[in-house]
Amino acid sequence: MAKPKIAVVFYSTYGTNHRIAKTAAEAAEAAGAQVRLRRIAETAPSEVVNGQENWKRQLAAMQDIPEVSHDDMIWANGYFFSTPTRYGVPASQMRAFIDTLGGPWSEGKLADKVATAATSAQNVHGGQETTLWSLYVTFMHWGAILVPPGYTHEALYETGGNPYGFSTEAGKLDDAGRKSIAHQAERLVKYAARLPY
Ligand SMILES: Cc1cc2nc3c(=O)[nH]c(=O)nc-3n(C[C@H](O)[C@H](O)[C@H](O)COP(=O)(O)O)c2cc1C
Repeated sequence: MAKPKIAVVFYSTYGTNHRIAKTAAEAAEAAGAQVRLRRIAETAPSEVVNGQENWKRQLAAMQDIPEVSHDDMIWANGYFFSTPTRYGVPASQMRAFIDTLGGPWSEGKLADKVATAATSAQNVHGGQETTLWSLYVTFMHWGAILVPPGYTHEALYETGGNPYGFSTEAGKLDDAGRKSIAHQAERLVKYAARLPY
């Protein structure tokens, strides 16, 4: 049987979602998938990025990771998205990429994939759930099969118990968090392997 193909697609300004995505990618690979770890291109003006030392440093730290392309989205049969929460929704950088996908979407090339998502926010109740719901609405428009974690692993109870997808406060990623992310990624691979193609 062919290996499931998972695209782990993330945007990160300060590193949290980079670490979430890396953890998901490693877990998906260990679970037997072919994995493409891909970052969303920065769209903020360079003077804004360079005006913040932490932002500049994080962008430099991700230079080895390829930017996500339409080919990655068509190639994959499973998506793991990770984005910071911005005013209760995904970062505009991620939305900007999503909004380029009209072509593949209209040709049915984003349909029939499994999909799941993770996020971080500054505050405990800063909009994590609405960010995940927002992404899931888009995944539904693509014709995806949603694979949220629900309460299918005990680590979820130690990480805030978000049944929609892993979420954390910005900058926080401990062992329980890594276990939750790994479980979510393994579950994605499990259902990607069951797709009828
Ligand atoms: C423009 C902007 C809007 C934000 N909106 C929210 C928000 O609605 N709720 C919240 O808790 N944190 C908010 N934050 C904080 C981000 O969620 C936080 O920086 C992010 O989770 C860090 O992820 P990263 O380390 O991957 O960049 C916002 C940050 C920025 C810059």
